[in-house]
Amino acid sequence: MTITVQTKSGEFKFETDEEGTETLLFAGLGAGLTLPYECATGTCGTCRARVMSGDVEMAWPEAPGASRLSRGKGDVLLCQSHAKGDCLLRVPAEVIAGDAAAAPRRLSGRIEGMRKLTADVVDFEIALDSAMDFAAGQFMVVTSSAVTGGRSYSMVNYTPETDRIRFVVKRKPDGGFSNWLFEGAADGSEVSLFGPLGKATFRPGEDGDLVCITGGSGIAGIMSILDHATQDGHFKSNSGWLYFGVRTLADAFYVEELAELVEKSGGALQVILALSDEVASAPTHPEHPSIRLEEGFVHEVAARAMGEISGQLNDRTIGFVAGPPPMVDGAIRVLLSEAKLPPGRIRYDKFS
Ligand SMILES: Cc1cc2nc3c(=O)[nH]c(=O)nc-3n(C[C@H](O)[C@H](O)[C@H](O)COP(=O)(O)OP(=O)(O)OC[C@H]3O[C@@H](n4cnc5c(N)ncnc54)[C@H](O)[C@@H]3O)c2cc1C
Ligand code: FES
Repeated sequence: MTITVQTKSGEFKFETDEEGTETLLFAGLGAGLTLPYECATGTCGTCRARVMSGDVEMAWPEAPGASRLSRGKGDVLLCQSHAKGDCLLRVPAEVIAGDAAAAPRRLSGRIEGMRKLTADVVDFEIALDSAMDFAAGQFMVVTSSAVTGGRSYSMVNYTPETDRIRFVVKRKPDGGFSNWLFEGAADGSEVSLFGPLGKATFRPGEDGDLVCITGGSGIAGIMSILDHATQDGHFKSNSGWLYFGVRTLADAFYVEELAELVEKSGGALQVILALSDEVASAPTHPEHPSIRLEEGFVHEVAARAMGEISGQLNDRTIGFVAGPPPMVDGAIRVLLSEAKLPPGRIRYDKFS
């Protein structure tokens, strides 16, 4: 089936499978088109398109991202839509035709090595059927036959051309995918993946201090970014600050890995754990004294600190933010108003 897309930067065509099993977003991205998206899973509304002709079916019409669509005028979410035949779409965005060989693609893999890190956080690896390259900070959409719909998860590790990727997932009360992971039967299961996706990435060779603000499982992509930055020798000439929000000390995870990164950076990277629901019993972590403890919501802790550090930040500083949408909004405000970063130097992922 041939899909024609009219965009602000011209008209493009791509093919999708005859059965229409792939979403229009993934088929278009897989062909190298830079179609607009953020979550890739139906919540943000960024992938809006209008069907001008042809038959398109939305797999999840109740998707939160569809709530503001003009359905009567033919608006759909590309990430939830499948073509039933050739069609013509209008996408209100600038789109570029990139290199299809380097485009995101479909892979399959097996969940392995499930570990419970805290009462409501697990991590695990996926053994992929073939190696892939990704940028630190990117994510994959993971689908299991046990749960309806795909879920986006950010890679925790950073290894170029790898067939093993690591994810960390926080249990959401009544959440379909996260509860399936916690119920015990997921280890060893086959999953389908699409990616890598996302633009909130650390780019090799990029110079600048790093200010990272994150909460809960938002640490996933930030671990990958700090890992890559460390491998790249980034902290030999730049500083880094990580503000990591959790409710209590018992909810903190990857603390040992973070302490190792601090040590490797020779102190250029500072890690601050922000405890929102507990009084810090000491100024530093009891087992890892290189990690400082503060009290309050992570964006509040970061805001207090920015008064001290904003004068030290170099003019190439990059802000990375990831986690639940309200936390991300609060952290972006801090980076704009307290750290004085221009909007173009702030990269974020909302885990919506
Ligand atoms: C870019 C990005 C990166 C993320 N990275 C991480 C991460 O590293 N770790 C982490 O813990 N979380 C991450 N998340 C959040 C994660 O994708 C899930 O939303 C979260 O795990 C809750 O999933 P759930 O199935 O338990 O909850 P649910 O409430 O069951 O589902 C949550 C989401 O799944 C999708 N969904 C639900 N039902 C359907 C359906 N019927 N059809 C199609 N789609 C459906 C929707 O997007 C919905 O918002 C990320 C989110 C985004 C957008
Ligand atoms: S990218 Fe489709 S709704 Fe977010």
